[in-house]
Amino acid sequence: MKKAIIITGTPGTGKTVITNLLEKEGYSTIEVGKLVKEKNLYDYYDEERESYVVNDVLLNEKLVELLQKHSSSEPLIIDGHVVELPPKHVLHCIVLRCSILHLRQRLMERNYGSLKIDENVEAEIMEVLLTDMLELYGPENVSIVYSDGTVEETFEQVLSKVKKVSNNTF
Ligand SMILES: Nc1ncnc2c1ncn2[C@@H]1O[C@H](COP(=O)(O)OP(=O)(O)O)[C@@H](O)[C@H]1O
Ligand SMILES: [Mg+2]
Repeated sequence: MKKAIIITGTPGTGKTVITNLLEKEGYSTIEVGKLVKEKNLYDYYDEERESYVVNDVLLNEKLVELLQKHSSSEPLIIDGHVVELPPKHVLHCIVLRCSILHLRQRLMERNYGSLKIDENVEAEIMEVLLTDMLELYGPENVSIVYSDGTVEETFEQVLSKVKKVSNNTF
């Protein structure tokens, strides 16, 4: 049964803020970045990019295991930048996006180095993630939500999408 809703997007688009609000609303959530570090689901740490290089096979195995354990009738919300779970597990994928100006500001506030900022800004401009998600899950299973307005506005849009796709299935 399809149980996962993926919240994805370039770093800085608001995945974790929005996912934390979903958790407050009562949903079970997983922050992939944390899971990868805690369970050693990476190949190595890339010093230049200041990030872990995720091992997709190990990550998917772990996520499928957690999905199988997830007994609630509500979907499990997965917050991650590099999640490519097989479509059979994925109810819907929400891609968060924001303007380049906002993205750059948010990543600077996070004290990312200039290489990392430029790479992420470029990935957002090139729609790398959106293209991957559309290819993997199909346009009918992918929604875009913009995070240029207030957090509350973005959260309302995400929550209504989550409720809609959950009601169709459960
Ligand atoms: N509409 C919005 N939705 C989500 N985050 C927003 C919004 N407007 C501003 N922000 C800010 O953008 C940042 C997003 O950070 P975070 O959720 O950690 O991003 P990600 O998990 O995608 O890397 C936070 O500092 C948040 O306060
Ligand atoms: Mg995050």
